[in-house]
Parts: sequence; C-alpha cells; structure tokens
Amino acid sequence: MRHPRLSHLLIMVMVTPLLGAATGAGSCAIPGGYAGDGGDIVIADFEGTDYGGWTVRGTAFGPGPARGTLPDQMEVTGFQGAGLVNTFHEGDGSTGTLTSPPFVIERAFINFLVGGGCHPGETCMNLEVDGEIVRTVTGPNRNSGGTERLLNCTWDVSALEGRTAMIAIVDRATGGWGHINIDQIVQSERSKGLLVTTGFPFPTEQKLYEGIYRPQFHFTAKKNWLNEPNGLVFYKGEYHMFFQHNPEGINWGNMTWGHAISRDMVHWTELEPKLWPDALGTIFSGSAVVDRKNSAGFQNGPEKTLIAFYTSAGKPFCQSIAFSNDRGRTWTKYDNNPVIGHLSGNNRDPKVIWHGPTQKWIMALYLDKDLFALFASADLKEWTKLHDVKVAGSSECPDFFDLPVDGDGTARKWVFWAANGNYLIGAFDGKRFTSESGPHRSEWGRNCYAAQTWSDVPESDGRRLQIAWMARGAYPGMPFNQQMCFPRTLTLRTTPDGIRLFREPVSEIESLHGTVHTWADVILEPKENLLQGLAGDLLHIRAEVELRTGAGFCFEVNGQKIEYSGESRTVSCLGCDAPLAPRDGRIILEILADRTSLEVFGNNGRVSLSSCFLPDVTDRAPVFRAVGAPLEIVSLEVHELRSIWKDGG
Ligand code: FRU
Repeated sequence: MRHPRLSHLLIMVMVTPLLGAATGAGSCAIPGGYAGDGGDIVIADFEGTDYGGWTVRGTAFGPGPARGTLPDQMEVTGFQGAGLVNTFHEGDGSTGTLTSPPFVIERAFINFLVGGGCHPGETCMNLEVDGEIVRTVTGPNRNSGGTERLLNCTWDVSALEGRTAMIAIVDRATGGWGHINIDQIVQSERSKGLLVTTGFPFPTEQKLYEGIYRPQFHFTAKKNWLNEPNGLVFYKGEYHMFFQHNPEGINWGNMTWGHAISRDMVHWTELEPKLWPDALGTIFSGSAVVDRKNSAGFQNGPEKTLIAFYTSAGKPFCQSIAFSNDRGRTWTKYDNNPVIGHLSGNNRDPKVIWHGPTQKWIMALYLDKDLFALFASADLKEWTKLHDVKVAGSSECPDFFDLPVDGDGTARKWVFWAANGNYLIGAFDGKRFTSESGPHRSEWGRNCYAAQTWSDVPESDGRRLQIAWMARGAYPGMPFNQQMCFPRTLTLRTTPDGIRLFREPVSEIESLHGTVHTWADVILEPKENLLQGLAGDLLHIRAEVELRTGAGFCFEVNGQKIEYSGESRTVSCLGCDAPLAPRDGRIILEILADRTSLEVFGNNGRVSLSSCFLPDVTDRAPVFRAVGAPLEIVSLEVHELRSIWKDGG
C-alpha cells in the first residue's frame, strides 16, 4: 500500500539539507510541487495502513492509523478521510509515543485536527525544535462525558520558519480520557483553526494576558494554579524559574514543577512543566544549581548539568534530585531517589548552595515546627547533617546565602531566611551557622511568601536576586490563579539598629519604562493633587520627600491608598503597616503598581509591603497629596510601564 503523503515527508527530509546548503530552504521544486509555491505541505494525513516513516513506541497507537472509532469508544467524528491517530487501542490504559521524522518548517502555520484527553504532557502532541518542546496541544476532555469530536486547531510557527522540527504524539495517561486523537497535520500559509498558544484550544496569547485581573508585569502561569518559585538557577544567559504548579486545576493540587525562562527576570516565556508527580509523591518545593565540577557525575555532554532538589511529597516526605544536561529543557529523575529519607514531620523544601571555602555543597532544609537543618555533601547525593537551625515563629522554604556588608566584599555575613520573610544574620564556616541577630522582619504586606534567591548568578553581575510568591490573591473568572512578586536585589546594610537586609526591585524594571513624569524641588500644598491629569494602571513611582513636623503624604494608585504618617512613622498599604523612620528627615518610597498587586519599598528596601487587591475598574487615576502640612518634594518620578506580554512575553 502506498502512503503518498508520508512519502512526501521522507523526500523532504532527504532533500532539505541540500536545499539548506545550496539554495535556501523552500526555493527548489520538489515532486508534488509543494515546497516552493507557498501551497500547503501535508506532514501526515494518516490514510495508510501503517505509520510510514514515523517511529512508534508502546502499544497505544496500534499497528497503524485507526479507521475511526475503536472498540468500546464513543463515536469519533471530525477526522478527515478514513484514517487518524487514535490512541484508544486497548482502551485508555495503553501508552506510547509516535514521532515524526525531522522536517523543515516552511510555512507560518501548522494546522491539525485534535481530540481526546486534556492531560498536559500526557495526552498531547508536541512540536520539538532542537530537543525543546516549542508548541504543544492536548485534546479538550478532562472529565467523564465530553466528546470524541476532533477540533480544527493551529500553531503559529512563523517565528520558527526554516528550523528543523519533529512532531511527537504522546499518550502517557492511563486513566479517564487517557488517549489522544490527531489527524491531518498540514503546513500552511493560512491559519485554519483555533490558534493554540497555551497547550489548549484557547484564545490568542495576547487576549489570554489581557484579562482585567491579569497582572501585566508580574509573572503568572498562563493557566491554572501556581505557588512559590522553585529551582531558581541562572545558566547561559537564562534565568530559570520553576514554580509549584497544578497543571490540571485552578486550585492547589497535583504539585508539579512549572517552568518559565527569562533573559532579564522581567519578560518570561512559559515552557512545559518539568517535574511531574511519580511513585514517591507529588513534587513539592526545592532549588537548583549548576554542577560546574560535575560532582554528581551526571554530565554527559558539553553542557554543565543542572541539578534540581525537591521534596517527594509522598508518604512520608523525603528529598529527591533530578538533572538536566540540555539547559533545563528535559529532566531525568535520579534512579536512587530519595537522597535524604524522612527525618521528621513533613520535612521539605531543600535549598542547595555551593560553599567555596570548604568545596562542599550545603543544603538548608525545613524539618518541622520552627526547626530547619543544614547538611553538607561532596557529590549532591550523600548528605551529612551538620545541625538544626531554629527560626522562631517561622517555617518552610528556607534560603541560605552570604552577602557583603555595605558592599564591602571582605566583610560578609550569612542570612538564614524562612518562608514568611523573617531572617537570621550570622556567621558560617562550612560546618556551623552561628546566628548573631534576628529573626528580623523584611516584609510587612499581606501576600509576600516563600521567596527564593537565584543560584549561579555570574560574579560579573554579583547581585543576590530574589523572587517570591504573592500568596493568596484572588482573581475571579481568570484562567490563572496566583502571581509572583517582582524580583528584588538583596543587600546587607548597616543601620542604627544593626545590620539589616534591604530588598529593592531589580533595575531591569527600567526596560518597561514608558512615558515619565518628573518633579524636583516642589512644595506640595495639602488638597493639591500633584498627579492631576495622569492616567494608567501600570506605574513605577520613586519619591523622595523632606518631611516637616507632623506632615504625611498619600499616594493613590488603582484606587488604593499608600500613606505615610510622620506622626506614627509608618507606611501603610491595603490594611498593613510597616515602621519607617525618616533618614536625615527624608523618606524614600518606591511603588510598583500592577492591575492586581501593589509593592511598596521604604527607604531603599529597608521595609517592603507586597499586597494583592481587586481593582475597582472605574477609578484608577493616580493621586499624590500632602497630608497635614505642605510637603517638600525633593524628587518624584512617575514612570508609565509597558506590559511584559505585549511584545511576546
Ligand atoms: C509553602 C509550601 C512548601 C511546600 C509547597 C507545596 O507554600 O507549603 O513548604 O513545598 O508549599 O506546594
């Protein structure tokens, strides 16, 4: 039996390298006339009796394309011709993959028909370029009932034209709707179906990020639940951010590591989730490092190995590792997991760092109640406990790092950090952490929780960079749930109270600056609104004011007040207060205003208040008033901000 369409594919595969070398892809006539004339290129229509040049693994795909509905299946409709991929062979319990030969992307769109289960990463079709999944789609069905009808869908691949790609149809799911149906995969200059940007037949990416409660410069998952950041590691120009994620639901559950990458911590590209639940449990929080010296022995190519440490949240909780040799694109869980068995309570959230002076890896781990512990290892697999660390009143998600004091590289102190933003300051010799002060409080808002700092930020940069979860906000009617705080730079500075940690928004925020409004050396009389006539719900404000006795001031952004009282020496926002004494008679406030979050930083990040809110969409005009007495404004900058999603994320 001939497979006319599949044989086109094979011819293209053989010819393309020559085309690429000699004349440029797509400029040469190929039998069938599809490559050079801008017409459609059929990648596969599954009309043959077998899968031709595609590679079949597992049993889900049967001996060849299905002829419609399979035994015990609801009626399958919406496919073209007589054949289609239907992984219901032997029912939902069978699994497997079907992988195409490589082909060159020569058109702006790939159109296809898709049906079956909605299990991201498990019943899906993926487009892979250089081993990375660049597009994915699932069927539409998650719950019992549903329909076996295939839908017309489209990937926009215009940005990938000329690249060599492969398509993998995946069925790893064995429960309800544990199958996927695919037909008629065709390259075309025209989009012929629903544009799939999220893995689901969903509105376009732009629309997805335009919801009234969707933060415009704070990271959110495209869909579904996220909680804290995990596995923060910098490698080869990319900031990786993994995050606690429920790929299947809008609320907490099915904990999996979601994944996003960025070159500036501001614009993010969400990739496929990476660490999925397994027999040891769901995947709770943890960290990642670059194993520069290959101390774990996992490196198998030119790339340094990234190693992730996470909690296997089964019965009981224990600590596991996984590694990636391809810049975080694919991950392998270590065969001998767990690397640390159960110790106490729901022990969890390993954070690993490299300690240069002792040439050892150090892990901070949460144990139980207000107890944490430190461990050391030479190879990232065998861990020896050093000792417990108590952070009174705190629990979960430790971080542990050192920083110069007042920028002096020779005078360094260690910070032991817990999920609520309280921290100890002390000394560490590789074996023992000695707390010298604390717990101190860094965060005074309603929602900032479980921050972590990036590993492996290059020395040439030298910053300690942190991002937190903006916990517990509400976003009615939105496809996502929860947002991240904006990343901060951490510094240790001497204050009249002793050494303290300061946290300020990273300077990369400036890449979002649009129109700026500035004032300097102005006296603001009470009742005047200095920002009269300004608009915008995305703002970055920096103000330095000189306070006269008894004076205060008030900003209003997105209908929410940010007030400073000279009497009580507090800054307040969304029902929370932070103590903030003037320095040399002055207060410096920095405000990041997004659609559903406000972050306020006092005196260069000595205190911060990070809180979520639901805006009253009718009243957003910004206000700045003096309260009680005229206010001397040393300087004020109000930057209108661009959305991070407008230029492609
Ligand atoms: C903190 C936390 C972590 C845990 C994770 C589970 O928010 O409870 O301790 O690893 O969430 O999602």
